[in-house]
Amino acid sequence: MSRIFVTGSTGYLGGYVCTRLLEQQPDARLALLVRGRDRDHAIDKLWRGWQLHMDAAAFKEALSRVELHLGDLHAKNLGLSDAAWSDLAGDTDSVLHIAASLNRKSERACLNTNLRGALSVIRLGRAMADGGGLRRFSFVSTAAVAGERWREVVPEDQSIRWDHRQYDPYARTKAFGEHMLRELLPDVSTIVFRPSTVLGDARFPDTTQWDMVRAYVFFAELPVLPWGPDIRQDIVNADYVGDAITHVHLADAPRWDTYHLSAGTGSRSTREIVHALASATGKPGPRFSRRLKGPFDGTVRALEMLGPGATTQRMAALLRVFLPYVTNDTVFDNGRIVAELGRAPTPFVDYAPSLLHYAKENDFRYPYRELPAD
Ligand SMILES: NC(=O)c1ccc[n+]([C@@H]2O[C@H](COP(=O)([O-])OP(=O)(O)OC[C@H]3O[C@@H](n4cnc5c(N)ncnc54)[C@H](OP(=O)(O)O)[C@@H]3O)[C@@H](O)[C@H]2O)c1
Repeated sequence: MSRIFVTGSTGYLGGYVCTRLLEQQPDARLALLVRGRDRDHAIDKLWRGWQLHMDAAAFKEALSRVELHLGDLHAKNLGLSDAAWSDLAGDTDSVLHIAASLNRKSERACLNTNLRGALSVIRLGRAMADGGGLRRFSFVSTAAVAGERWREVVPEDQSIRWDHRQYDPYARTKAFGEHMLRELLPDVSTIVFRPSTVLGDARFPDTTQWDMVRAYVFFAELPVLPWGPDIRQDIVNADYVGDAITHVHLADAPRWDTYHLSAGTGSRSTREIVHALASATGKPGPRFSRRLKGPFDGTVRALEMLGPGATTQRMAALLRVFLPYVTNDTVFDNGRIVAELGRAPTPFVDYAPSLLHYAKENDFRYPYRELPAD
């Protein structure tokens, strides 16, 4: 039975990847690094992340193939005991490092999680490679590592340029995470996945991740948007990203070592996207005026100064970090993953209306179910 060590299993993408690994690799067991006060707390967190994909009975069955390792990326040796570290080092088939801090505003969170934490996971990978042998180490990065761009289609090999400015500490630390991986595990099969903006599931409207849903619904409801209608938005469906990561991670010989998981040149324009969202509620959708960019940026900055906790302040803070990404008209070539998987992601405009209805009906919250006590 093979053992796959996974970080980030309680998160949005972690839920997609872990549930697919269990389905597609019936002889695998998952060793999960989970932050939790105790085992019950860790199981509750896992259930919150995985209930999008299964009911309680299936979850309980899945748990029989899961080993929980309570720990933290910020702790020495990931918070693992010496015995757990050596056991994992001696008998793990592969590693999928998904966990990260996505807090684009916090240098400290990104440094601790995406650099110190990633380094610890890579060190564990090193011990695995030196111990029992490691088949593969996959690292979920982000398309944002391409840094500041304007009107580009970025191929994987031209993404990281160390003399380019990055938009935020998140992108900076993820880029250096990729670098550490390649420098420290040169003898291991390493794969880097770079999703673009992951937004919703093309098969059903339910989601547990709301930030970008809020942002695009907000844009669709504005009377005017302060950038050009033709600016492209590289949005990819979460089910495609989950399939892609699982497929490549399990493949014997993937063709490349780095993959954009993105809509690429199939990305739709802002006009197409906000109109698909607006028409779902019978609204006309915004007009576009580039001249309003200055006043719009000023308003966002002013709203951000409102007291913490205010909804408008939260939306303004969200917009401030995402605006450079949604206005740079840059998309990420997805030719490699389309060739590897044999299919392209679903255009966001096809499932945006059902996502919007779901978001409105549930007030932008997922209706979490408790795990039955038995
Ligand atoms: N979602 C997107 O649009 C997107 C786009 C591009 C790339 N990505 C990348 O995809 C990966 C997953 O993102 P996501 O959207 O699934 O994020 P998410 O829902 O916020 O999940 C983050 C995961 O990381 C774990 N984590 C964070 N800090 C940790 C720590 N100190 N110790 C242990 N675990 C820790 C979280 O555990 P807790 O449950 O304990 O918090 C959670 O399981 C990240 O590497 C991200 O950079 C995401």
